[in-house]
Amino acid sequence: MRRLIPDPGPTDLESELEAYRPFEHALEDRPWVAVNMITTLDGRASISGRSKELGSEADTEHLLGLRTRFDAVMIGGGTMRAERYGRIISRPEFRQRRQSAGLEEDALAVIISGDLDLPFDAPLFTDGNGRVVIFTRKNQAPETETPVELVTFDGLIDSADVLAHLRREEGVRAVLCEGGPHLFGQLVAGDLVDDLFLTITPVATGGDAPRILESNLPEEARFELVGLNEADGDLFARYRRA
Ligand SMILES: NC(=O)c1ccc[n+]([C@@H]2O[C@H](COP(=O)([O-])OP(=O)(O)OC[C@H]3O[C@@H](n4cnc5c(N)ncnc54)[C@H](OP(=O)(O)O)[C@@H]3O)[C@@H](O)[C@H]2O)c1
Repeated sequence: MRRLIPDPGPTDLESELEAYRPFEHALEDRPWVAVNMITTLDGRASISGRSKELGSEADTEHLLGLRTRFDAVMIGGGTMRAERYGRIISRPEFRQRRQSAGLEEDALAVIISGDLDLPFDAPLFTDGNGRVVIFTRKNQAPETETPVELVTFDGLIDSADVLAHLRREEGVRAVLCEGGPHLFGQLVAGDLVDDLFLTITPVATGGDAPRILESNLPEEARFELVGLNEADGDLFARYRRA
Protein backbone atom coordinates (compact mmCIF):
# COMPACT_ATOMS: atom_id res chain seq x y z
CA MET A 1 0.00 0.00 0.00
CA ARG A 2 1.23 3.51 -0.70
CA ARG A 3 -0.02 6.75 0.74
CA LEU A 4 -0.76 9.48 -1.79
CA ILE A 5 -2.36 12.10 0.49
CA PRO A 6 -1.06 13.36 2.90
CA ASP A 7 2.71 12.70 3.07
CA PRO A 8 3.17 10.41 0.04
CA GLY A 9 5.22 7.25 0.59
CA PRO A 10 5.02 3.54 1.36
CA THR A 11 2.70 2.53 4.18
CA ASP A 12 0.76 -0.46 5.49
CA LEU A 13 -2.79 -0.88 6.64
CA GLU A 14 -2.02 -1.63 10.27
CA SER A 15 -0.03 1.55 10.79
CA GLU A 16 -2.63 3.56 8.85
CA LEU A 17 -5.39 2.30 11.15
CA GLU A 18 -3.42 2.46 14.39
CA ALA A 19 -3.96 6.20 14.75
CA TYR A 20 -7.63 6.00 13.75
CA ARG A 21 -9.63 5.94 16.99
CA PRO A 22 -13.27 6.75 16.17
CA PHE A 23 -14.41 5.35 19.54
CA GLU A 24 -12.86 8.42 21.18
CA HIS A 25 -15.28 10.70 19.31
CA ALA A 26 -18.69 9.47 20.46
CA LEU A 27 -21.31 12.20 20.59
CA GLU A 28 -23.66 12.48 23.55
CA ASP A 29 -26.74 11.35 21.65
CA ARG A 30 -25.24 9.05 19.03
CA PRO A 31 -22.07 7.12 18.16
CA TRP A 32 -19.45 8.44 15.75
CA VAL A 33 -20.59 7.14 12.36
CA ALA A 34 -18.29 5.97 9.57
CA VAL A 35 -19.45 4.42 6.32
CA ASN A 36 -17.34 2.10 4.18
CA MET A 37 -18.39 1.53 0.56
CA ILE A 38 -16.77 0.33 -2.65
CA THR A 39 -17.66 1.92 -5.98
CA THR A 40 -16.96 1.15 -9.61
CA LEU A 41 -15.73 3.98 -11.86
CA ASP A 42 -19.34 4.55 -12.87
CA GLY A 43 -20.60 4.75 -9.29
CA ARG A 44 -22.13 1.26 -9.11
CA ALA A 45 -22.38 -0.72 -5.90
CA SER A 46 -22.32 -4.31 -7.13
CA ILE A 47 -21.60 -6.82 -9.87
CA SER A 48 -24.13 -9.63 -10.32
CA GLY A 49 -25.95 -8.45 -7.21
CA ARG A 50 -22.98 -8.59 -4.84
CA SER A 51 -20.35 -6.09 -3.75
CA LYS A 52 -17.92 -8.87 -2.84
CA GLU A 53 -17.24 -9.38 -6.55
CA LEU A 54 -15.90 -5.80 -6.76
CA GLY A 55 -13.38 -6.00 -3.96
CA SER A 56 -9.69 -6.83 -4.42
CA GLU A 57 -7.78 -8.62 -1.69
CA ALA A 58 -6.54 -5.22 -0.53
CA ASP A 59 -10.13 -4.00 -0.21
CA THR A 60 -11.14 -7.03 1.87
CA GLU A 61 -8.14 -6.48 4.14
CA HIS A 62 -9.07 -2.81 4.44
CA LEU A 63 -12.64 -3.65 5.44
CA LEU A 64 -11.58 -6.30 7.96
CA GLY A 65 -8.95 -3.93 9.37
CA LEU A 66 -11.48 -1.13 9.74
CA ARG A 67 -13.77 -3.43 11.72
CA THR A 68 -11.11 -3.62 14.42
CA ARG A 69 -11.71 0.07 15.22
CA PHE A 70 -15.48 0.06 15.91
CA ASP A 71 -17.80 -1.14 18.67
CA ALA A 72 -20.47 -2.06 16.13
CA VAL A 73 -20.91 -2.86 12.43
CA MET A 74 -24.26 -1.94 10.87
CA ILE A 75 -25.89 -3.06 7.61
CA GLY A 76 -29.30 -2.96 5.96
CA GLY A 77 -31.43 -6.02 5.25
CA GLY A 78 -30.58 -5.92 1.52
CA THR A 79 -26.88 -6.26 2.28
CA MET A 80 -27.47 -9.14 4.68
CA ARG A 81 -29.52 -10.94 2.02
CA ALA A 82 -26.90 -10.37 -0.72
CA GLU A 83 -23.73 -10.92 1.27
CA ARG A 84 -24.80 -13.44 3.93
CA TYR A 85 -22.47 -12.16 6.65
CA GLY A 86 -20.58 -14.39 9.05
CA ARG A 87 -18.93 -13.55 12.38
CA ILE A 88 -17.90 -9.90 12.08
CA ILE A 89 -14.43 -10.36 13.59
CA SER A 90 -13.52 -13.76 12.26
CA ARG A 91 -9.73 -13.69 12.75
CA PRO A 92 -8.37 -14.35 16.25
CA GLU A 93 -5.53 -11.84 15.72
CA PHE A 94 -8.08 -9.13 14.92
CA ARG A 95 -10.05 -9.93 18.08
CA GLN A 96 -6.76 -9.61 19.95
CA ARG A 97 -6.07 -6.28 18.26
CA ARG A 98 -9.51 -5.01 19.32
CA GLN A 99 -8.89 -6.00 22.91
CA SER A 100 -5.55 -4.20 22.90
CA ALA A 101 -7.39 -1.05 21.77
CA GLY A 102 -9.89 -1.45 24.64
CA LEU A 103 -12.75 -2.77 22.49
CA GLU A 104 -14.87 -5.90 23.02
CA GLU A 105 -13.49 -9.01 21.31
CA ASP A 106 -16.45 -9.18 18.92
CA ALA A 107 -18.14 -6.19 17.29
CA LEU A 108 -21.88 -5.89 17.84
CA ALA A 109 -23.66 -6.73 14.56
CA VAL A 110 -26.52 -4.33 13.81
CA ILE A 111 -29.08 -4.94 11.06
CA ILE A 112 -31.95 -2.70 10.00
CA SER A 113 -34.67 -4.77 8.40
CA GLY A 114 -38.29 -3.63 8.51
CA ASP A 115 -39.67 -6.92 7.23
CA LEU A 116 -37.20 -9.28 8.97
CA ASP A 117 -36.92 -11.35 5.81
CA LEU A 118 -33.31 -12.28 6.54
CA PRO A 119 -31.19 -15.39 5.82
CA PHE A 120 -31.23 -16.85 9.31
CA ASP A 121 -29.18 -19.80 8.06
CA ALA A 122 -26.22 -17.46 7.33
CA PRO A 123 -23.12 -17.96 9.51
CA LEU A 124 -23.67 -14.69 11.40
CA PHE A 125 -26.73 -16.33 12.97
CA THR A 126 -25.57 -19.96 13.14
CA ASP A 127 -22.00 -19.51 14.35
CA GLY A 128 -22.96 -18.65 17.94
CA ASN A 129 -20.32 -15.97 18.51
CA GLY A 130 -20.87 -12.29 19.14
CA ARG A 131 -24.29 -10.67 19.34
CA VAL A 132 -26.78 -9.25 16.84
CA VAL A 133 -29.30 -6.44 17.31
CA ILE A 134 -31.98 -6.09 14.63
CA PHE A 135 -34.10 -2.96 14.25
CA THR A 136 -37.36 -4.08 12.71
CA ARG A 137 -41.13 -3.65 12.50
CA LYS A 138 -41.71 -7.32 13.40
CA ASN A 139 -41.72 -8.74 16.88
CA GLN A 140 -41.23 -12.45 16.38
CA ALA A 141 -37.68 -13.37 17.35
CA PRO A 142 -36.01 -15.96 15.07
CA GLU A 143 -34.35 -19.08 16.47
CA THR A 144 -30.59 -18.64 16.17
CA GLU A 145 -27.38 -19.91 17.76
CA THR A 146 -25.97 -16.39 17.94
CA PRO A 147 -27.87 -14.28 20.48
CA VAL A 148 -30.24 -11.92 18.62
CA GLU A 149 -32.18 -9.04 20.12
CA LEU A 150 -35.05 -7.41 18.26
CA VAL A 151 -35.74 -3.71 18.73
CA THR A 152 -39.23 -3.25 17.36
CA PHE A 153 -40.47 0.01 15.86
CA ASP A 154 -44.02 0.91 14.85
CA GLY A 155 -43.87 2.31 11.31
CA LEU A 156 -40.85 4.22 10.10
CA ILE A 157 -37.44 3.15 11.39
CA ASP A 158 -35.52 6.38 11.61
CA SER A 159 -31.72 6.03 11.40
CA ALA A 160 -31.24 8.79 13.98
CA ASP A 161 -33.41 6.82 16.44
CA VAL A 162 -31.42 3.67 15.71
CA LEU A 163 -28.15 5.47 16.44
CA ALA A 164 -29.56 7.05 19.60
CA HIS A 165 -30.66 3.61 20.80
CA LEU A 166 -27.19 2.14 20.10
CA ARG A 167 -25.53 4.92 22.07
CA ARG A 168 -27.98 4.89 24.99
CA GLU A 169 -28.82 1.20 25.38
CA GLU A 170 -25.73 -0.54 24.01
CA GLY A 171 -23.03 1.98 24.89
CA VAL A 172 -21.84 2.04 21.28
CA ARG A 173 -19.28 4.81 20.80
CA ALA A 174 -18.44 4.26 17.14
CA VAL A 175 -20.30 2.38 14.44
CA LEU A 176 -19.10 1.31 11.00
CA CYS A 177 -21.90 1.16 8.43
CA GLU A 178 -21.09 -1.17 5.54
CA GLY A 179 -24.08 -0.23 3.43
CA GLY A 180 -25.89 -0.85 1.36
CA PRO A 181 -26.94 1.98 -0.90
CA HIS A 182 -30.33 2.59 0.74
CA LEU A 183 -29.00 2.68 4.28
CA PHE A 184 -26.06 4.83 3.18
CA GLY A 185 -28.57 7.19 1.54
CA GLN A 186 -30.62 7.49 4.72
CA LEU A 187 -27.55 8.28 6.81
CA VAL A 188 -26.39 10.96 4.38
CA ALA A 189 -29.91 12.38 4.13
CA GLY A 190 -30.00 12.62 7.93
CA ASP A 191 -26.56 14.30 8.02
CA LEU A 192 -25.34 11.40 10.15
CA VAL A 193 -22.10 10.44 8.36
CA ASP A 194 -18.92 11.64 10.06
CA ASP A 195 -16.33 9.67 8.08
CA LEU A 196 -16.67 8.08 4.66
CA PHE A 197 -14.24 5.41 3.47
CA LEU A 198 -14.70 4.96 -0.25
CA THR A 199 -12.80 2.36 -2.28
CA ILE A 200 -12.72 3.20 -5.98
CA THR A 201 -12.08 0.09 -8.01
CA PRO A 202 -10.85 0.56 -11.59
CA VAL A 203 -13.72 -1.11 -13.41
CA ALA A 204 -16.84 0.24 -15.13
CA THR A 205 -19.88 -2.01 -15.31
CA GLY A 206 -22.75 0.11 -16.67
CA GLY A 207 -26.04 -1.74 -16.58
CA ASP A 208 -28.65 -1.31 -13.92
CA ALA A 209 -26.76 -2.21 -10.74
CA PRO A 210 -27.62 0.21 -7.90
CA ARG A 211 -25.53 3.29 -7.37
CA ILE A 212 -23.60 3.38 -4.11
CA LEU A 213 -26.14 5.87 -2.72
CA GLU A 214 -29.81 5.32 -3.46
CA SER A 215 -31.86 8.02 -1.81
CA ASN A 216 -33.35 11.42 -2.38
CA LEU A 217 -31.22 13.86 -0.46
CA PRO A 218 -32.86 17.01 0.87
CA GLU A 219 -29.76 18.87 -0.29
CA GLU A 220 -26.33 17.99 -1.63
CA ALA A 221 -24.01 16.56 1.01
CA ARG A 222 -20.39 17.72 0.95
CA PHE A 223 -17.34 15.89 2.21
CA GLU A 224 -13.72 16.87 2.52
CA LEU A 225 -10.91 14.57 1.34
CA VAL A 226 -8.59 13.80 4.27
CA GLY A 227 -6.65 10.82 2.97
CA LEU A 228 -5.91 8.76 -0.13
CA ASN A 229 -4.04 5.45 -0.38
CA GLU A 230 -3.50 3.02 -3.24
CA ALA A 231 -3.12 -0.77 -3.28
CA ASP A 232 -3.73 -3.38 -5.99
CA GLY A 233 -4.91 -0.57 -8.31
CA ASP A 234 -7.72 0.38 -5.91
CA LEU A 235 -7.90 3.89 -4.47
CA PHE A 236 -8.80 4.12 -0.79
CA ALA A 237 -10.23 7.57 -0.16
CA ARG A 238 -11.18 8.86 3.25
CA TYR A 239 -13.55 11.78 3.53
CA ARG A 240 -14.84 13.67 6.54
CA ARG A 241 -18.07 15.65 6.77
CA ALA A 242 -17.23 19.09 5.34
N1 LIG B 1 -20.64 -1.31 -2.93
C1 LIG B 1 -20.76 -1.47 -1.64
O1 LIG B 1 -19.91 -1.02 -0.86
C2 LIG B 1 -21.94 -2.21 -1.09
C3 LIG B 1 -22.13 -2.29 0.30
C4 LIG B 1 -23.22 -3.00 0.76
C5 LIG B 1 -24.10 -3.60 -0.12
N2 LIG B 1 -23.88 -3.50 -1.44
C6 LIG B 1 -24.81 -4.13 -2.41
O2 LIG B 1 -26.01 -3.40 -2.36
C7 LIG B 1 -27.10 -4.28 -2.71
C8 LIG B 1 -28.19 -4.14 -1.67
O3 LIG B 1 -28.68 -2.83 -1.76
P1 LIG B 1 -29.76 -2.25 -0.75
O4 LIG B 1 -29.84 -0.80 -0.99
O5 LIG B 1 -30.99 -3.09 -0.82
O6 LIG B 1 -29.03 -2.53 0.64
P2 LIG B 1 -29.36 -2.07 2.10
O7 LIG B 1 -29.37 -0.59 2.24
O8 LIG B 1 -28.42 -2.86 2.94
O9 LIG B 1 -30.79 -2.66 2.38
C9 LIG B 1 -32.00 -2.00 2.18
C10 LIG B 1 -32.96 -2.74 3.07
O10 LIG B 1 -32.59 -2.49 4.42
C11 LIG B 1 -33.74 -2.39 5.23
N3 LIG B 1 -33.83 -1.03 5.70
C12 LIG B 1 -32.89 -0.07 5.55
N4 LIG B 1 -33.30 1.04 6.16
C13 LIG B 1 -34.48 0.77 6.69
C14 LIG B 1 -35.40 1.53 7.45
N5 LIG B 1 -35.15 2.79 7.79
N6 LIG B 1 -36.54 0.95 7.84
C15 LIG B 1 -36.82 -0.32 7.51
N7 LIG B 1 -35.98 -1.11 6.80
C16 LIG B 1 -34.83 -0.54 6.40
C17 LIG B 1 -34.89 -2.80 4.34
O11 LIG B 1 -34.87 -4.20 4.52
P3 LIG B 1 -36.09 -5.18 4.56
O12 LIG B 1 -36.44 -5.31 3.11
O13 LIG B 1 -35.48 -6.40 5.16
O14 LIG B 1 -37.19 -4.57 5.36
C18 LIG B 1 -34.42 -2.37 2.96
O15 LIG B 1 -35.06 -3.11 1.95
C19 LIG B 1 -26.52 -5.68 -2.78
O16 LIG B 1 -26.29 -5.97 -4.13
C20 LIG B 1 -25.19 -5.54 -2.05
O17 LIG B 1 -24.26 -6.47 -2.52
C21 LIG B 1 -22.84 -2.82 -1.95
